[in-house]
Order: sequence, then structure tokens, then C-alpha cells
Amino acid sequence: MEAESSPVISVVPDDEQNQKFKKSKNVAFYRRQIQGPNKQHRALLDTMVLTERGARFELLETDSQSRLLLSVWPCKNDTVRILIDELQPIKARYRVPDVITEEPQREQLRVERQSKDSVTLTWSSGRHRVRVWRSPFRLEILCEDEVTVTFNSKGKLWFETLRDPTRATSQGSKLQEEHTSLLWKETFRQFVDIKANGPSSVGLDLCFHGFSHVYGLPEHADGLQLRDTRDGEPYRLYNLDVFAYELYSRLGLYGSVPLLVAHKPDTTLGVFCLNASETFVNVHYSPSEHQDDQTPPVKRRRTQPQTDVHWLSESGVIDCAVLLGPDPQQLFSQYAQLTGYQALPPLFSLGYHQCRWNYIDEADVKAVDAGFDRHDIPYDVIWLDIEHTDGKRYFTWDPALFPEPANLQRHLEEKKRKLVVISDPHIKVDPDWSLYCEARDGGHFVKQREGQIYQGSCWPGESSYLDFSSPDTRAWYSRCFHLDKYKGSTPSLFVWNDMNEPSVFGGPEQTMPKDVVHYGGWEHRELHNLYGFYQHMATAEGLITRSGGSERPFVLSRSFFAGSQRFGAVWTGDNVASWEYLKISIPMLLSLSVAGVAFCGADVGGFFRDPEPELLVRWYQAAALQPFFRGHSANMTKRREPWLFGEEVTAAIRTVIQQRYSLLPYWYTLFHQAHTCGLPPLRPLWVEFQREQSTFTVDHQYMIGGALLACPVTERGVEEVRVLLPGSGEVWYDVHSAKAYKGGGTLSLPVTLDTVPVFQRGGSVVCRAAGSCSCAADVQQLPLSITVALNSQGAADGELYLDDGHSFSYRDRKAFCHRRFNMLSGRLLCRPAGEEGMFECDTVVQSVSVLGVKRKPSSVVVHVSEAKDTSAAFQYVDTCCVLTVSNLNLRVTMDWEIHITG
Ligand code: GLC
Repeated sequence: MEAESSPVISVVPDDEQNQKFKKSKNVAFYRRQIQGPNKQHRALLDTMVLTERGARFELLETDSQSRLLLSVWPCKNDTVRILIDELQPIKARYRVPDVITEEPQREQLRVERQSKDSVTLTWSSGRHRVRVWRSPFRLEILCEDEVTVTFNSKGKLWFETLRDPTRATSQGSKLQEEHTSLLWKETFRQFVDIKANGPSSVGLDLCFHGFSHVYGLPEHADGLQLRDTRDGEPYRLYNLDVFAYELYSRLGLYGSVPLLVAHKPDTTLGVFCLNASETFVNVHYSPSEHQDDQTPPVKRRRTQPQTDVHWLSESGVIDCAVLLGPDPQQLFSQYAQLTGYQALPPLFSLGYHQCRWNYIDEADVKAVDAGFDRHDIPYDVIWLDIEHTDGKRYFTWDPALFPEPANLQRHLEEKKRKLVVISDPHIKVDPDWSLYCEARDGGHFVKQREGQIYQGSCWPGESSYLDFSSPDTRAWYSRCFHLDKYKGSTPSLFVWNDMNEPSVFGGPEQTMPKDVVHYGGWEHRELHNLYGFYQHMATAEGLITRSGGSERPFVLSRSFFAGSQRFGAVWTGDNVASWEYLKISIPMLLSLSVAGVAFCGADVGGFFRDPEPELLVRWYQAAALQPFFRGHSANMTKRREPWLFGEEVTAAIRTVIQQRYSLLPYWYTLFHQAHTCGLPPLRPLWVEFQREQSTFTVDHQYMIGGALLACPVTERGVEEVRVLLPGSGEVWYDVHSAKAYKGGGTLSLPVTLDTVPVFQRGGSVVCRAAGSCSCAADVQQLPLSITVALNSQGAADGELYLDDGHSFSYRDRKAFCHRRFNMLSGRLLCRPAGEEGMFECDTVVQSVSVLGVKRKPSSVVVHVSEAKDTSAAFQYVDTCCVLTVSNLNLRVTMDWEIHITG
């Protein structure tokens, strides 16, 4: 088999990029809905049926007289699901499968009030109500008698019912015929899209009363708060391979999560619109304003602000879950209950990853691996890009460059390090390749409309695309990762799914035509945004079953959808080595985190072009404080291993990577929290400071869990940064100097190239690994040092979660340790954090530092269950009010107390 020559790509000029991708004006269904007059709908209240599954109503579209079926059901976890489909479709419409993991338990509805104009329904919690208005149809969700969300408030409900193609073209005048044919066929540049089902778009609008801030809807290269779209393009959710993507843009990128979160000081709400076809979302903010009340006595009153959101999708049904919060924690939990929790990553995957397109051969990989040891920089994983394969045939190895892949993995595994290899969804058309033949003969490829296997072009040249929407194909693909099938693989090989939007070179918008056909006869348009989600699912499943179900997988995917958090990590694709891309990576990762995709990162240094050393250092500093931490660069860039830029740069990078490894116990605990409660490790400030308006638009700094606030430097040559420290009454401690600052203002902090502004919140406890390591497995052997940051009441609280770091024993055999550290009135207690697991570990707490101790204590006494109290030696530094108790050797799995007196 002949290896393809290395593809060479450069950053395309903006013009070409602009032409390649559609704007909303190029999209027929968007134009129809935006330009067409609103359709009038009436709720036929007398058709209401109440069952234990919720309420059902018929809706009548008054012009066409077509009938829709509206189903509403509230659930026990304070969510309300609203579903609209055709009452009697000529064929079933696509309903997104496999994303919702568990239908929350439903509530029994009762009629509270009914008139000829409306019906009000309530359920046991009594806090919420749903009111349906007859004409024009509207649906209101009330909380404590106040309307918080109105569905169809602007009358934009739109539902194109399916038509019979034979009747559609044989009737009417020539003009009508032409018009009709446009509905059945759409052209963009040279691409013709034949719509087998004709027009089938849906649309809805929602009003959030009292809200002026909305977030979510990744992925866009834009700020965290969604912008008003009246001045430009709507947010587009359509998974596309856009390399060197435009910044501050609402065009679709690699993945989509149709979750929008609205926040105001006392309430956080969410709307999740489950639709996997091309979707646009318009956002209109209306500030509060003064209005004259015309009825005497004439008064000026202030209306509340509102945010109107208009969703438009090309096909499918309207399936919308309103998540009622009311606080961010509850909202994240409601969303996770619906679409699944973040997978608990294996510990190694929270370490540093070294990637490049491409590490050339086995000797190169070994040399880079040795370079990390030589420069005393910890890392966990080295990555192989497409060139490691035999001619871009995934699951194979280039025989000349990687003749002994299993030995290479063993070499790494001896140092407890891993190898990740790329596995894309396109399969080279090669009748001499057994994997291609198996896929072809097993019917695992996406088909053209006419039934032949679809072929498109990607890295290997002519390729066919696996149909991951088919359960059989997924099962077959999963098996391809099994050790007996994937020659040269070992249990320490993990996987990277790329180009899975899917990317098709030369295809419409560089993706798959919408009219190709998937499992069940569904057109690609119905499930386009699910393609990468399904590959990610099948790959993760493959790695799990390869171990007989015992080991946790690690899979990185470029494309994603709601629920992808269950399968692993994602990254923000092909960024550029520039300060602007470093800056945008923060809001991009925050948006992903808000939308449940918590294990996310951006290519460190920028994928395209060569970063200047200062940018590279700043990028490492930022990314070391983000969930997925990987250096990666394109094939045309210069080599970029951390030690290639002189000692100053090496030292700065070494420091932040080492700091990342020290903080792994904290990161792992946060991921456990994401895995069990849905709270993302990376949080916008408003998630922790819900009432503080000044935090609502901040997206250059963020919280890591509840304890740490990070404000990475993202500008060249900066000598000072301004950091918002929220919360009057809060105390913040600079983690490097332990200096305390009052919250509720902005701090000007002088910085050098080595400064990474991070603050610990008073009232929190953070556990770090103490000592040096070369990878995450070493961290498990290290003792812990605990930093207790006192709040103004002298109290603090925090948790630690530990397990073996790689298997499912924590789940299947409760082999975990979950501890709580609580400090109050000079007593620090180590206790179980909740359900007690059975994890045998020798991890000890070596030292405790308490920040904010006003006076030097007279004594520190350690109390361990039945043993005699012992007094401990301590140091007190009065310049920064830090008390440190060292040489403790207290087992973290045991209950103990430290009493500080005087
Ligand atoms: C895509 C990926 C990039 C990868 C390259 C070659 O551009 O986004 O990360 O290196 O393909 O596989």
C-alpha cells in the first residue's frame, strides 16, 4: 500500500472562507420564516386531554387549517417539556434519539382555572404553572404567579407540514410550480440539494421576562454573553470544518449544543431545543423602559427588561425542555439529568498532552518523550496525527515509520504514559483493504439518494463515510478498537476523532450533502449535527468494551452535540497562533462549559502559524488552568516542544505545567462533581456570584470550581492586569503571595512574564499534590498539601475525591474516597463528604496552610480518632498572615482534626 504524500494546508484568505460558507440569507428555510408573515395559530382548548403523561392540545394554523399536536409535560426536577409535531403527518418526522439519557419522572397535571380564552394547569410542586392561551396561541410558564417564559409570545411559531411530492408539483400555475420546485430543491454555489420531503422547517419564539443576559449555544468564536443579533447574523448551529475560523462570528463551527441559558440576579433558566438539523437562533434584548399608563390617573411605570429568542430549524419537530433552575447549580443538574453527566475522565487525561501534526516516526516520539524527562517537565500523553497510518487508513500503521507500534506503547507505558492516535470517520476507498471491504459489505457507509455508497474526498483522497447513526455500524466500529482487531494497539492507546462534522473536501460548505441517506432512510439534513456525537459514542464504547468494561476510555472529538460530554473531551479546532485567538479561547471554553461540555480545551500555542515565545508562554499559562490541556500545531509550523525557545521560556512553561500537576487532585475532584452533579469545573463568574451584575458580562476571567479565580494574561507586553474580585464581604488570596484582597472591586496587579493571576476565595479549601512528578500516575503517590483560605468569619470548606484514576471500580465497587475539609472556629475537620466509599489508599496530608490567620497561634494540636492528641510544630508568617503546619502525615481516608488555639 502506498502512503499518500503529506497534505499541506495554509490559512485561507478571508474571502475564500466567506464564500465557502453560507450566510443566513443563502438559506431558503431561514428566508421563508424570516420574510414570510407570521402564521396565526389557535389552541383548540376543548381538545385538551390530561393523562399521567401530561397534557395534549390540538393547535390549528388558521390559514392552511393544518393541525398540530402540542404536548406539555412537567417533570419532577423542575423542567417542562414542550413538544409540537404534526397531528397526522403523512410520514414520521425525525425525533432526535440517543441524546436524552433519561426522561425525568413526570408530574401529574391538574386544571387550576379554565375559561374560554385560557386554561391554567398546575402540578404538585405548586410553584410553577403553565397557562395556554387560545388565540393567538401562547404558552406561559409561571413561577410563583409571575410569568417567566412565554412560548410564541411574538407569534413566530412555524411548522411546515410534510406534503406529498407528487401532488405538490402537479398542481397550480406555472409561477406556483416554480415556487414549489424551489421548496424541493435548493442550490448553493455549484451544489444542488434535493429535498425528498420538501419544506419541513420549524420555528418558535420564546420570551424570557426580566432577563437581559443569555449564554450558551456553542460553538462560536465569540464572547460568552450572546449578542443581540439585530445588527448581523443569527447564531448558526451547523457543524462545520472551518479552519482558522473568523473571530467574533456567529457562523457555525465544529459542534453544536442547542442549550440557551438566561440569567438574572435571582433566577437562572434554560431552554434546550432538541433538534439536530441546521438551526439558527436570533436574540433580541429589550431593556427596561418607562411607559405611560394611559388609564387615569396617568402614571409612568417602568417595564421590566426581556429577551426574545427565535429558533429556526430546517426539519424535525419542536422539542423543547424549559429548565427552571432557579439557580445555576440546579440548572446544570437539570440539564445533566436530561442529556447525561460529564464522563469521569481517567486521571492521566487531565495531565498535559503533547501533540503535533505529525510526530514523524518512532524515534521522534521517543526523543520527544525523553525531552520531557530531560527538561523535568511532566506530561502524560503523546499524540499521533494522520501520518502515522498506512496511507491514511485508520487502524493501520505506516510500516516504515511505525514498524513496532506496540513496543512504542510499551516504552511509554513503562513510564506510565500513553499514546493517542487519530481515527477519522472517512474510510479510504480501497477494495484491497479489508477494513474498507468489511464496512462496504456490512452496509456501514452513508448512501447517496439513489442508493449507491456515497463517496467524498478527505485526507486519504476518495473516501466513504461510516454511518454512525446506525447501531449496527457503531457496534462494528467499536469492535475495530479491540486489541485483537486493531493490530499494534495496546491498552495504553487512546483515540482522537477528527474531521467528524463530517468534513468533506469540496463538499457543500466542506461537509456532506444534506440529501445523502442514513440508517432508517433518514436524510443527512435531519441529523447532521449528530454525526460527530455518534462517532464519539462508538469510539468511547469501543475502548470500554476492549477492556471488558472495566477501564474508562479517553476520546477527544472535534465535533459534538448535546450529550457529547458522556463520551469524553472536545477541543476548539483549528485556531491560530495569535493573541486574539488566545483571548477568544476563554469565552469559547466557558460557553462549552455552560452547555455541559465540561472537558474542553483549545490547541495551546495556536494550531496555524508560529507563536512568538511570549504568546506561547501566555498560552501555556492560560491552558494549564483549563480542563483539557494539549499543545498542538499544524504540519507547516516550526517544531514547538516547550524546550525549544531558550531557558527562560522553558522555565516558565515548566512552572505552569508543574503547577497543573500539583493541582490535579483539585481538578479531579471538580470532574467528579461534574460527573455527579453536572457542575462544570470551568465556570463563568456569574455562576458563583449570581447576584452580582458586574460579573454577568465578564469572560476574560473565570472560576475553576468554587475556589479559584483565574485571570490569564492574554495581551502582549502587559505590565499590569486588572482583575475583578467579586463580592463585597469576600476575601481573595493571591495564590502565589498569599496576600489578601477585599472583594467587590477591581485590582490592578503588576505582572511579569512569570505571573499568572490566580486567587483563592476566602471560605474555600484546595488540595494540591506536594512534590515533583513526571506524569499523573506519580501524583497519586504524592502526599497532599491543603490550603485553607479563611473567609471573614474564619471559616472554610472544601472536598477531595480520589479513586484509582482509571477504572470503573469507583462506580461498580464503590472504590473511592470522598472527603470533606471543614474549618470553623480554629478547628479543621477531615470527615467523609457523603456516601463513604471503600478505597484503600495511603495518601497522606503532609501539610496544611491556613491563609488569613490574624495572629500567631499559641498552639496547634492534632487529634486523630482514638489516638492521643499531639501538638504539632508550625510556622507563622505575620507579613501575610499564613499559618503552616508541616510533617503531619495524616491519612486522608481517616477522620482527624487540627485545633488551632490562641
Ligand atoms: C484537522 C484537525 C487538526 C489535525 C489535522 C490533521 O485540521 O483539526 O487538529 O492536526 O486535521 O489531522
